[in-house]
Amino acid sequence: MQLNPRSFWTYLILVIIVSIGCTNKTQLESVETGSIVNDVHSFSNPNEVIVQHLDINLHVNFAEKKLFGKTGLHVKNKSNAANLILDIRDLDIQRVTLGDDEKPATFELGKSDSVHGQPLTIGINPTTELVTVYYTTSPDGAALQWLPPNQTAGGQHPFLFTQSQAILARTWIPCQDTPGVRMTYSGRIKTDSGLMVLMSAKNAVKKSPQGTYEFEMPQPIPSYLLALAVGDIAYKSIGPHSGVYADPSIVVAAAYEFGNTEDMISTAEKLYGPYRWGKYDILVLPPSFPFGGMENPRLTFATPTVLPGDRSLTSLIAHELAHSWSGNLVTNATWDDFWLNEGFTTYIERRIMEELYGRVYEEMLAELGFQDLQEEVEELGENSPDTRLHLDLKGRNPDDGMTDVAYEKGALFLRMLEENVGREKWDAFLHKYFDEFAFQTMTSEKFVDYLMANLFGGDVQKKQALKIDEWIYGTGIPDNCPKIESKEFEKVENQIRKWEEGTPARMLETKGWTTHHWLHFIRNLPDSLSQKQMAELDAAFDFTQSTNSEILFAWLKLAIRHKYRRAYPVLENFLSTIGRRKFLEPLYEELVKTEEGKKMALRIYQQSRNRYHPITYQTIDEILHWKN
Ligand code: BES
Ligand code: ZN
Repeated sequence: MQLNPRSFWTYLILVIIVSIGCTNKTQLESVETGSIVNDVHSFSNPNEVIVQHLDINLHVNFAEKKLFGKTGLHVKNKSNAANLILDIRDLDIQRVTLGDDEKPATFELGKSDSVHGQPLTIGINPTTELVTVYYTTSPDGAALQWLPPNQTAGGQHPFLFTQSQAILARTWIPCQDTPGVRMTYSGRIKTDSGLMVLMSAKNAVKKSPQGTYEFEMPQPIPSYLLALAVGDIAYKSIGPHSGVYADPSIVVAAAYEFGNTEDMISTAEKLYGPYRWGKYDILVLPPSFPFGGMENPRLTFATPTVLPGDRSLTSLIAHELAHSWSGNLVTNATWDDFWLNEGFTTYIERRIMEELYGRVYEEMLAELGFQDLQEEVEELGENSPDTRLHLDLKGRNPDDGMTDVAYEKGALFLRMLEENVGREKWDAFLHKYFDEFAFQTMTSEKFVDYLMANLFGGDVQKKQALKIDEWIYGTGIPDNCPKIESKEFEKVENQIRKWEEGTPARMLETKGWTTHHWLHFIRNLPDSLSQKQMAELDAAFDFTQSTNSEILFAWLKLAIRHKYRRAYPVLENFLSTIGRRKFLEPLYEELVKTEEGKKMALRIYQQSRNRYHPITYQTIDEILHWKN
């Protein structure tokens, strides 16, 4: 055979495809050999038949707020099962077929509930390898937010984005919606010309003239990391491995804000081993995005409220990037072990920030986090089962377990281990942990076993001395909790004291204070503040006009508490433009504490509810006892 240049390239591409295929196979096989941990939040039956690859083929219809098309599920029927059970919620299933020749399949919809949705049971054969589901999503599918142009920065084009974690992937893709199942995927998404489509996969950097986009996600991921965004989006590279996608009007600002991303990637790699996802890009969403960030692989989704202009809120990127190891690579097997995702990630986030900006900076982050934890534990009650790291979320919405406990108590637990065995040994342990369990799931039990074998050398006394079980299965904060101290914050507290003793606010020594100093300042002002005092602070430090969302949020909470009405127009604007639940929930909670506040909350909510993502409005509905 003659090898002309064209067939040489074809051959080379084939070799690459085959070798990528092989890598995936080994990754998948390691998942397959073990049995999948039972997940009370999924109806699916992955221990009998497991989905290994998805072929997502959808049209985006903005006029009807619907996705329609088909998803092909490549399955392995491990036990000659007669049925493949998938999770769905608010999906209109039109038909289901088997195999490449699309033979009609029988299917049945089970009883539906508002949290879990319903099982879709499909009749299959022992030899079935492909199941194709034709369906349409619902306009109020909980993962999806359809935005009119006026809710975007550019104001000219509509926008759509998904948020699948924890159990919302099933509202836009029929799947085995449990973190225990990993799949690769390919996608073909068609939208209006002029719009860009992105997924948690390999993405284009330019718009397609026809509005048709193809995607490939070669690494196997759990369903909660499936993601899609459609809108008027531009791209700007920020380094060899990273770039920013955002509305064209803010993409330059976003690229500046996240300019330290490459350093974060190399720092994380130095600590915990290679970044295994190819590129790390960030998509800045419209302000209604319900979270600060979401670790969708290859493409972190981020709120625009982390663009203050001075790079002071980039620990959020360190956090989402850290999930590329803790969470996306080693994944909590069920939502009961959410702390294995978020506690590890919060710990790693701080380590990255320490490497880049020093221990003093890290101590401020840790101290603010510790304050959040103390407040959370106080609210829940220190004996509340929800203050445990390992949770029991049976019969509950997994969202209920997603408190600061998982993040901050989880991070403190790891810090305690680090302080006890020393950083060198601990870092080596964690690095090995990520290598060993890459593309697999983890449970609390399995982690403790691994800890015993690989950090404690089987020494049971060590395990007892460090109160490992109390940390994971007990309530409250154990008494061997590391001490969190920040010298910088002592300076802030001194200034607060001075002010209380009569020094005018504008005379306080605040030169060189960063966002975190100001947050500590606002959070630690005395419990009772008069109108005059609030006005004095505002005049001195311009809090009501702050362009830093974290500072403004902390201040607005105080404004409500102390009825500082001069801030109310800004509060109203904040509540009606931003949809980040972490901000809205405490503000609405603070408002409903008084009659006057409740009235104001209801008035604003009436106008704003339809601008919030379903995840946010479901939470606020409860606070306001809202009946739709
Ligand atoms: N994975 C979470 C977001 C999440 C948690 C979505 C639970 C759905 C259910 C993400 O990594 C996260 O923790 N985001 C934080 C920011 C972070 C800096 C603490 C957020 O959105 O506030
Ligand atoms: Zn996180």
